[in-house]
Amino acid sequence: MIQLHQVSKHFHNETAIRYSDMVFEDGHSYLLLGASGCGKSTLLNLIAGIISPDTGEIIINGRVMTNESQQVRDAFRIRSIGYIFQDFKLIEDMTVQDNIDILRLEGVDVSHAAGLFAALGMQEKRNKKVRQLSGGEKQRVAIVRALVKQPDIILADEPTGNLNFSIGEQVMRELAETARGKTLITVTHDERLASYFDHVVDMNEMTSGGLFDAPSDSREVM
Ligand SMILES: Nc1ncnc2c1ncn2[C@@H]1O[C@H](COP(=O)(O)OP(=O)(O)OP(=O)(O)O)[C@@H](O)[C@H]1O
Ligand SMILES: [Mg+2]
Repeated sequence: MIQLHQVSKHFHNETAIRYSDMVFEDGHSYLLLGASGCGKSTLLNLIAGIISPDTGEIIINGRVMTNESQQVRDAFRIRSIGYIFQDFKLIEDMTVQDNIDILRLEGVDVSHAAGLFAALGMQEKRNKKVRQLSGGEKQRVAIVRALVKQPDIILADEPTGNLNFSIGEQVMRELAETARGKTLITVTHDERLASYFDHVVDMNEMTSGGLFDAPSDSREVM
């Protein structure tokens, strides 16, 4: 279970986001819908432990991750979280296969890659460089990379954002199917994806932007 309690984050450009308390149950899938800039990617980066909140706690399986060191959070993410980034973060000059194999350096067992490539119709593309792929193909590589370690938690940031709707729908169906039984948190502005999820949540009601109550010393330290 993932719990957020009183979490807020502000950036030095004075953007501030406050999230409502949230609970994500194990094995359920969630679609969080929100407009551009409302704090979707920030939320996933907070859950992934890539950034830290200014206030509040993020608790995963009873462990207060916000009290842990960056090293502990990184180790947890590598082992237990599959993150499909909004901009993929693939290495364009490497082949598809090498983008997966490089995870071995982090101790990830990549032996499930072949099955995932097959499930996503990508086995023919494994020796191509990422830069030679279409947007939909890159999206699938990003999905394989996130799922290959068989994570308990999958975070997907606009997984159809770069695709036309019919390809996007197909990729979403494939992602939902391969993620079945895991905790899947997808953020998007595209409400047409709602039917693939157990729970649909309006993020515009879960976040507030602007300078609500940024820490009083924040402007002094800038
Ligand atoms: N590293 C950063 N430095 C400064 N401001 C940031 C940073 N990251 C996010 N922000 C700001 O926080 C707000 C939320 O950004 P975020 O990327 O979470 O939005 P989003 O909902 O994912 O948007 P989109 O749908 O366009 O991807 C924005 O106003 C953004 O400018
Ligand atoms: Mg975003």
